[in-house]
Amino acid sequence: MQVVLTRETDWEGWRRATRALVLTGVAPEKITWRIGRVPAPLPEAQGTFNVPRNLVEIAALAFQAHARDRFDRLYRLVWRAHHGALPAAPQDDPALAEAQALAFAVRAEAHRMRTHMRFMPVEDADGPRFLGWYAPQHHVLEANAQLLARRFPDKRWSILTPEGSAHWDGGGHAALRFGPGARGIVDDATLATWWDAHHAALLQEAVPGSSVPEAEALDEAPRPPDLPPLGPVVLDLAPDPAVHRAAVEAGQCRRCDLWQPASQTVFGEGPAGAQVVFIGEQPGDQEDVIGRPFVGPAGQLLDRAMEEAGIDRRTIYITNAVKHFKFTPRGKRRIHQSPDATEIQVCRFWLDVERVQLAPRLLVLMGASGARAVLGRPVTVTRERGRPFALEDGQTAFITVHPSYLLRIPDPAGKAREYRAFVEDLRRVRALMEPA
Ligand code: URA
Repeated sequence: MQVVLTRETDWEGWRRATRALVLTGVAPEKITWRIGRVPAPLPEAQGTFNVPRNLVEIAALAFQAHARDRFDRLYRLVWRAHHGALPAAPQDDPALAEAQALAFAVRAEAHRMRTHMRFMPVEDADGPRFLGWYAPQHHVLEANAQLLARRFPDKRWSILTPEGSAHWDGGGHAALRFGPGARGIVDDATLATWWDAHHAALLQEAVPGSSVPEAEALDEAPRPPDLPPLGPVVLDLAPDPAVHRAAVEAGQCRRCDLWQPASQTVFGEGPAGAQVVFIGEQPGDQEDVIGRPFVGPAGQLLDRAMEEAGIDRRTIYITNAVKHFKFTPRGKRRIHQSPDATEIQVCRFWLDVERVQLAPRLLVLMGASGARAVLGRPVTVTRERGRPFALEDGQTAFITVHPSYLLRIPDPAGKAREYRAFVEDLRRVRALMEPA
């Protein structure tokens, strides 16, 4: 049985086919999924069909992953759920856990796209347009474009990626159009030239429509296109080459035992010229799976607070005192455990590499472990937070709380109060970031 989807993100097509095939009893191994122009006929299906909510949420995101076999893998999960053979919790089933990891990766990449993309103002025949360029690792253009259209209905913009483009001319929902991709763009100069040469044809070919769900998980505030730019338009915030080499080397780090149970080393990330380095404790569960710092719940809270404080995450470097996730397994769950003083000391090797290579002006130490890593002594965050102080090497340090601390506060009023204090601290950081 061949199922033909019309494109990589034909979520509606996949859902329709999955419903028809599961209900008519077509087993996963009998199906070949492919992308093509002409959809193949599906069997007539009768009856009802229930898929657990968490599986739909995972599938909606994992469907946007750049993984060849995802149509089949997700179908198998739905098939098993329909036959009562799928546990509810991802930790109880390797295939479901893998799909969840894909979903996390998609969400992180969608988020990364929104925080890394800058918009460049251009003019076309109908007036000003904002032009963004990004090469996503997953198929997240459509979901992000829908989100952007909803948040900024009055702007005119285009987003170019190697695989496709999205265009918004303001007005009703039908104004969101998708067209061919744009290859060969490497920097802002080539973006402008490429746009001049190709935009008329690109806009002409673009057609309405996307079936990708606007997953709640993707629904975070994107960066408005008209934020005052912090500097020139930067399209590629490339990492420092020496930091990049260190990150590759750290992938094999055996300086302590934390590498063993962890999935991978999670090194810092940020552009070569970053003047500010944010230092947390260690990667969490989601960071360990995805391989990037601060992409899980604490990272999302930090992003929100940074945005409120006027700090552009794309311009800072963010890392951790310890580069592996330390945890205790409890059943199928992995419970976070803080690193001890020796682990922080041993991993300082990598933090020093990051500091020496980037030579930032300011270090923001989030929480006791980040502070200990830099200061080499125990720190009571509540006593020392909120003011800058000079370090021996000429850098400035600033201590604040760790965003995970805010997540753990049970009472809503206390949580809101502490969040405001955190944003206040970040505003002070923002002020310290201004050129002297
Ligand atoms: N907490 C941290 O300290 N670092 C991360 O990367 C994520 C959560």
